[in-house]
Amino acid sequence: MRTTIIAGNWKMNFGPQQASRFTAEILPELDKIIRQHPSMLSILCPPSISLSAVHQVMQSIPTHGIELGAQNMYFEDKGAFTGETAPEMVKELCSAVILGHSERRNYFHETDELVNKKVHAALHYGLLPIVCIGENTEQYELGETQSVIRDQIHRSLAGLDAEQASQIVIAYEPIWAIGTGKAATASEANMVIHYIRYVYSEIYGADAAQAIRILYGGSVTSANIGEFLAYPDIDGGLIGGASIKPDFVEIVRKSAEIVKK
Ligand code: PGA
Repeated sequence: MRTTIIAGNWKMNFGPQQASRFTAEILPELDKIIRQHPSMLSILCPPSISLSAVHQVMQSIPTHGIELGAQNMYFEDKGAFTGETAPEMVKELCSAVILGHSERRNYFHETDELVNKKVHAALHYGLLPIVCIGENTEQYELGETQSVIRDQIHRSLAGLDAEQASQIVIAYEPIWAIGTGKAATASEANMVIHYIRYVYSEIYGADAAQAIRILYGGSVTSANIGEFLAYPDIDGGLIGGASIKPDFVEIVRKSAEIVKK
């Protein structure tokens, strides 16, 4: 059985003080829910400057199944890369890292080739990569979703063996659904996620296609998470806007109810 993952991408919100307060507020509730569901995992991804503060709060409140993730990292080990964070530095505090988020691809010109180097570095350092893929509005309207997804998988995951490929998490995030309040319909998301498993089975074989955990992201709230998780191929959500609100706890609660069934 695949773990259900609800990850919160806080984006550029909450400096260390606010991040600590918010974490202290939601952590006991999250723990109460997740503790009863060993097949569930929640990953909090604050901005890098707040990782340490959130880590401290997480150390002080005993929890089960709640982990810390970064929103990005560089692939080099160390050196003259002003403003960047090395994998080993991330690993000191985190167990996961979001890679290739569409905002990084769009605003900071990250390519599949760069994302690929980061994926290899994350795996090398024992970090769980959450690799984001998804089509933009134009590609969606032109019906190019499948070819875009296929290319992103081939390029972003180049050089992984089947075992590595089955360990990572993919987040399918149609760019037109991110931060717009206009989520994909659950059946649309399911179709693409099904396709991702198909591409996976072609490249890495049937076992990897069954093992890979695939999340949906884009305008997920407690009001629609249930629709997505009702599809067995959708293993959870990458939550943006709603992850910095108490609604995040509700999303986890709703997910737990479904996982239980
Ligand atoms: P959203 O963002 O939930 O605010 O649409 C999702 C994401 O960017 O990961």
